[in-house]
Amino acid sequence: MKILGIESTCDESGIALIEFKNNKINVISNLLASQVKIHRKYGGVVPHLAAREHKKNLPYLFKKLKKEVKNLEFDFIAFSQGPGLAPALLEGKKFTQKLAKKYNVKILPVNHLLAHIFISLLREDKIENPKLPAVSLLISGGHTELFLIEGNLEKNFKIKFLGETLDDAVGECFDKVARMIGFPYPGGPEIEKLAKSFKGKFIYNIKLPRPLLWQKSFNFSFSGLKTAVLYKIKKTKKITKRFKVELAVEFQNAVFEVLLDRVKRAINLFGAKTLIVGGGVSANEMLKEYFYKNIKNIDIFWPKKTLATDNALMIAIASIFYLRKNKKLILPENLDIDPNLKINL
Ligand code: KG4
Ligand code: ZN
Repeated sequence: MKILGIESTCDESGIALIEFKNNKINVISNLLASQVKIHRKYGGVVPHLAAREHKKNLPYLFKKLKKEVKNLEFDFIAFSQGPGLAPALLEGKKFTQKLAKKYNVKILPVNHLLAHIFISLLREDKIENPKLPAVSLLISGGHTELFLIEGNLEKNFKIKFLGETLDDAVGECFDKVARMIGFPYPGGPEIEKLAKSFKGKFIYNIKLPRPLLWQKSFNFSFSGLKTAVLYKIKKTKKITKRFKVELAVEFQNAVFEVLLDRVKRAINLFGAKTLIVGGGVSANEMLKEYFYKNIKNIDIFWPKKTLATDNALMIAIASIFYLRKNKKLILPENLDIDPNLKINL
């Protein structure tokens, strides 16, 4: 079975082609056109510019794929239906409908957030079948959510929502803090780089809050942390490179502690045997190290760094889980987008 995956929820246009045979995944192609340079000037993603770029990039990527693969064919299209930016999703939808009609195939709409989680189960050429229940942490630019997966991921599984951020997403908070100290979008990698460069002793003694750490819930909150950073910056006379490095260290520590606390609480409460992490922020190597150091005795699935941020391979992979749950393929004219799509599996 050959699956074509399409991604256009935010600022990455992606097209991937996989073959799924005898339970093995063959990644034939995984193409990406990033728009980071365009949005960088504005300090974040501008929806109508993202849409304009998808309109241009998706046909371009598909042309490239046709050059790579002789006699291109596929059984259906897996489409990233949401959540995401409405204008960006709309361009993806129009492109997907046209392509489906041209190739006379149906479409399987999938949830972008679940795709971030499922891609973490891809190891070499296999989709792993972890022991359940699994706690699943999704940390991206637009979302911060905690799920519980029960049953068996190869047959009959259920995904339950546990909690989410009450305000900013963790990736968004990384981006905003980076911006406050003069770094371009996306700020996550910049903050990590700063924190990694820390050596010696702390001079500034910066202390930031750990939002909601006291609360027995599965929710998160990051806007207070962001405001606390802003106050620290305002109160500091001279923002030196050293200040930025120490701020990045303390900021990451605050975020990491909060994320770990919620995850550990869920693992203990539900007796989870596995933790699955996904989303752009999981590209952070320091976070990965911190989690592996602090969570013992259960299996952890973490995405490959290059697959942590948005891509179309994860959409194609996710569709396999939809098929396992007997989700039906739809005709192109019935395809719809949903900028606020909830878990639909
Ligand atoms: O999943 P993603 O590619 O897009 C969304 O679906 O939102 O996530 C993008 C987010 C951005 O906020 C970016 O700053 C963050 O992931 N990110 C990181 C790192 N790399 C990307 N955050 C922290 N550390 C990183 N190394
Ligand atoms: Zn994403």
